[in-house]
Amino acid sequence: MKMNILGIHTTHDAGAALISDGKIIAAVNEERFNRIKHYGFLPINSIDYCLKKAGIGIEDIDIIATSSSVLDPSLKLLFNLSDREISKVYPAFSQLGNLKARIKSNIYKYLEPREVLPDYISSFKIKDSTKILPTDHHLAHAASAYYTSGFKEKCLVVSADGVGDNISIAIYRGENGKLTLLKNYGIEGSLGLFYGMVTESMGWWVGDGEPKTMGLAAYGDPNSFPDFILKSFMPEYENGTLKKPYNYAKINRFKLFDCYHFHFSELSSIKRIKDTYGDKNIAAKAQYLLEKEMIELIGYWAKKEGVRRLATSGGVFLNVKLNQKIVEANIIDEYHVFPNAGDGGLALGAALYQQFNICGEKNIPKLEHLFLGPEFSNYEVESILKGRNIPYEKVDDAALMAAKLLAQGRIIGWFQGRMEYGPRALGNRSILADPRKKENTNIINEKVKFREWFRPFCPSLLYEVAEDYFHTQREEFFMITAYSVRKEKVNQIPAVVHVDGTSRPQLVKRQHNEKFWRLIKSFQDLTGTAVVLNTSFNIKGEPMILSPRDALKCFFDTGIDNLIINDFLISKD
Ligand SMILES: [Fe+2]
Repeated sequence: MKMNILGIHTTHDAGAALISDGKIIAAVNEERFNRIKHYGFLPINSIDYCLKKAGIGIEDIDIIATSSSVLDPSLKLLFNLSDREISKVYPAFSQLGNLKARIKSNIYKYLEPREVLPDYISSFKIKDSTKILPTDHHLAHAASAYYTSGFKEKCLVVSADGVGDNISIAIYRGENGKLTLLKNYGIEGSLGLFYGMVTESMGWWVGDGEPKTMGLAAYGDPNSFPDFILKSFMPEYENGTLKKPYNYAKINRFKLFDCYHFHFSELSSIKRIKDTYGDKNIAAKAQYLLEKEMIELIGYWAKKEGVRRLATSGGVFLNVKLNQKIVEANIIDEYHVFPNAGDGGLALGAALYQQFNICGEKNIPKLEHLFLGPEFSNYEVESILKGRNIPYEKVDDAALMAAKLLAQGRIIGWFQGRMEYGPRALGNRSILADPRKKENTNIINEKVKFREWFRPFCPSLLYEVAEDYFHTQREEFFMITAYSVRKEKVNQIPAVVHVDGTSRPQLVKRQHNEKFWRLIKSFQDLTGTAVVLNTSFNIKGEPMILSPRDALKCFFDTGIDNLIINDFLISKD
């Protein structure tokens, strides 16, 4: 069916995605444009970009897919709709079943003066026939996983996060292009909030700092204190039921610079455990307990459904160590994780759900790449460099030049093509270094990214040599699962092996990213190692870069030695 579906998400990690005639045209998060990490409000720039990329206007949109089952008042602001207008385009608004949405909307109407976006910010005037279709939060997560999995046969689909639309974990069956809800668990079953609580006890931002907790966990011992001490602050599952619900005390929330922050009332108790047993050990225990409960739950449902095929999404599955344990637990054979698993991926998930639901398509495509964001021409890049009197050199073969610089021990900023959708740099907005030098870990953490000493770095390697380095036969294109590195290889690439002997690799296939593949191949030709260290092009606390200007700012503000943007080389000496 020919139609344009715009997916939008308007709370934390806001963003937009566009599917035209069944093809994903663009997907991007607002934080990349306004430079506010995890920005959670109106995805104006994201919508603008999606429309421009497709060469269409807002009046060409047939369906707007939102990522929540309740009416978000910001939709009225975004599309400048009165209550009368919204009841026309948002069918759920006028249904009794969505009484909650109507009450909420009416409360907002009386509490707040009608807000209208001025023209100089944006003006999206949708046509009367456009429909706004709400997509439940976890259904949007599940859709992002299932409709990108490539699974032809029945599979289990699991969505898990802190909480969304009052649900923390939802279990679906994916079959013949349809998602069927099997069971969901409320906030009292949230494993994501439990992990967030431990993350806050470390002094880190809930919804941002969880990868730090996971990274630190590898330095601790999960057996250093009894399970029950931390278990008393989390739910427990058995045979698919919530054996022990955990009633979270009040979760406080506030917005700062249009970002959400959370504070758990139990924090002082968790901090006491941390102070008694140490930050590394509480991180290790939280990681262990998360893995145990999630594997128990997934194992039960996979068995009950009689499937060994799993697709997951939701912020909990950004935990690459959990994904490793799921792979190793022998409860499934095939595993797909949607790489933008957090709420940043909801806009695309909502759009995919509506696309498949309306079209009744049964063929599920496999996600091949995530290069769905903006790109810049050589003309644009050269104009920026000239305009700022920045010396540069135009190179014939950027990939070969980058490989040579890496082999000389340089740390380079690598900017090519369309920006990645999601938290991982996959070779278009990357900082690269030689993985053979262990000291690069400290150099990049201290002088380039300005972040914690224990943060690990990931390898990007040629698809063809994956099994030489890792104990896996899985195709892992998105750095979303950790694997054990073969013992004999650990000393060859020490800068990309974590303290526990694992790595979170990106296998690079030539047809997915020709230039990046050639870069790694050239590095192999020069050094014998078909691996590069690849970390996202940004500094701590900032979103990944989007534009050449962002790249230049980051380059001149950090210890990066050389910057390659498209075919232009910029050097500090
Ligand atoms: Fe979520």
